[in-house]
Formats: sequence, C-alpha cells, structure tokens
Amino acid sequence: MIRSHITGSGSALPRRCVSNAELAETVDTSDEWIVERTGIRQRYIAGDDETTGSLATEAARKALADAGVEPSEIGLIILATATPDRTFPATATTVQDALGCNGGIAFDVQAVCSGFLYALGTADAMLRTGMAKKALVIGAETFSRILDWEDRTTCVLFGDGAGAVVIEAREAGAGDTGILATRLHADGAHREMLYVDGGPSTTGEVGKLRMKGREVFRHAVVNLSEVLTEVLHEAGIAADAIDWVVPHQANARILDATARKLGLDPRRIVVTVSQHANTSAASVPLAFDVARKDGRIKPGDLVMFEAMGGGFTWGAALARM
Ligand code: ACO
Repeated sequence: MIRSHITGSGSALPRRCVSNAELAETVDTSDEWIVERTGIRQRYIAGDDETTGSLATEAARKALADAGVEPSEIGLIILATATPDRTFPATATTVQDALGCNGGIAFDVQAVCSGFLYALGTADAMLRTGMAKKALVIGAETFSRILDWEDRTTCVLFGDGAGAVVIEAREAGAGDTGILATRLHADGAHREMLYVDGGPSTTGEVGKLRMKGREVFRHAVVNLSEVLTEVLHEAGIAADAIDWVVPHQANARILDATARKLGLDPRRIVVTVSQHANTSAASVPLAFDVARKDGRIKPGDLVMFEAMGGGFTWGAALARM
C-alpha cells in the first residue's frame, strides 16, 4: 500500500527575539501575566527584509537537506499561511522559484492555525493518488504584520516563523509506517471569534487580528479532544500507544487541558510555545523539527499532529515515522 512518509524537516526563525520583558516596555503587560496565562516567554519578530516567503524558503531548504532530496525531485509544494507575501500569487510559487524546482504544482492553503494540518492532509491525498511523488509541506507566517500592537489581549500571544517537511510516496514499511489517518473539520458559524478585520474584497486593506480569547479557548479544548479521538479510532490505535503529540502551540493551558481530557502523558507532548509563542500555521512543523533534531522523535515513533484555528478550523493526523 502506498503511503506518504515524512522523510525530512526544517525550520526558520527571524533574527530578532523579543522577550516578554522587552514587550512590556511598549505594551501595558508584564512577564508574569504572559507566562501565567499562556506559558509564552519570548517570540521572534520578522525584520523588514524577512517575509513569509523568505522564512518558508529557508525552512524548505533545510527540510530538503535533511531528507537528502534535491529540489528538482519536488513535484508539489503546499504552503499554509494566513500572512502571504502578496494577496497573489501564492507564496508557494515564490518558494518554488527560489528553490529552482519550477514546473510542478505549487499553491497556498488558508486555514489559519490549522493550515499545516490542512496542507499535510491535501498533500497526502495528492501523493496517494499519484499526482506527485515527493512534496514539500510548509507552514510559514509573519503574524507580527497583522497584530494590533495597541491591543495587549492579542499582541503578546503571537510570533513569526516557518517549518517544513518533505513527504514522499512509498510502500508502507513492515512497521506500518507513513501517515496512517487524517481528519479535518471547519465550522464557519464561529468565524467572528477569531478573524482579521480587513481584506482585498472588503476594506481593501490588510487589517488587524481580532479575537475573543475565552471563547477560542473553550472551543479549542472540546474540538481538539474530539478530533484526536476520531483519528485514533480510524487508525485503530489506543491513546497510550502515541509516542509524541505535536500540537499547535497556542497556549500552554490549552495543551494541558487537552492532554488531561484525553488522559495523555504530558511528558509526551512537544511544547515550544514558551520559545516561539503562537506562530499559527508554522507552529506544528516548527515544534516537530525541534523535537526531531533534539532526538526526541525517532524512526518508528507514532506521532500525532493536531491544530485548531480561525474559522473555526481544526484537524489531526497520525503518522508512524
Ligand atoms: N497583560 C496584562 N493583562 C492583560 C493582558 C496582558 N497582555 N491581556 C489581558 N489582560 C487583562 C484583561 O484586561 C483582564 O483584565 P480585567 O480583569 O481587569 O478586565 C484580565 O487580564 C483577564 O483577561 P481575560 O481575557 O479574561 O484572560 P484569560 O485568562 O481568558 O486569558 C487568553 C486570556 C490568554 C487570551 C486566553 O483566553 C487564551 O489563551 N485564549 C485562547 C486564545 C488563543 O490561544 N488563541 C490563539 C489563536 S487560536 C488558536 O491558535 C487555537
């Protein structure tokens, strides 16, 4: 049976790291409040010369090197972002040209913080149906550009960055390797809970992020618990068989509450929110890359990816490395 296998990963962060204390010099907040409510200690903020496209390209190059795959072998690039370099063309085409693998399929996916799960699910389906053999799946964001820096309830929560994986269509190995199950959902009735108040077709401006934090929190725990249970059921695997959960890094308290609800061992959850803050579509592949490179995630491990974001959108995917 042909399955998509994750064979490499890479990530990229802007040069400038901003601590909570530095943020508190210009925003009415404190390190104590941010750490206690969110677990965030610092975030990276893109400079003028750093864009979603440049961060995505750097992460993609590292993922290709890690997988030992040449750019010319890549037939599909899906880039998840809510902060593209331009309204069009897709930032994925910028990455394609920078890598020099022109001619294959390249497009962006917009599902905000769940974007990487949507991109991975789409790429997996395309690989299994033979539309490409090797793909780059990227999550990249420069959320600092759409934050209202006068709104302390949102601006302290987000950061910029990119993460990428290479996936390849291969026969499922003896250990039942590859992406085993994926579930994606959206419920547009909640799109006013987390949105950007602008766009090309409405205001003609980029707009700023707006969020009802408490409502998002409540829905996140319920939706994530449900979708994780669905994926485990589809794969016929028990929660205690999971080696690592790589969740969207929105808030340490959402991660704790979801783990408690499902009875997951908190030591098996990859947590990078303290270092990167919420990087939206970039957060899952960024956290995955950190845990692979520091040796936690190893070949043969069963890894659950999950995310929830504006729309609302949410999803989960289970893969054996
Ligand atoms: N610094 C200091 N005080 C603050 C700050 C800040 N940065 N932000 C809000 N406050 C104050 C509020 O004004 C309020 O003061 P008041 O009681 O005098 O009115 C007080 O802190 C409590 O505010 P709440 O909004 O009730 O705080 P809460 O405990 O709900 O935490 C938070 C807010 C962190 C946003 C929380 O609701 C949350 O994590 N929500 C999830 C949202 C999220 O993670 N979204 C990410 C995008 S979606 C996703 O990725 C899943």
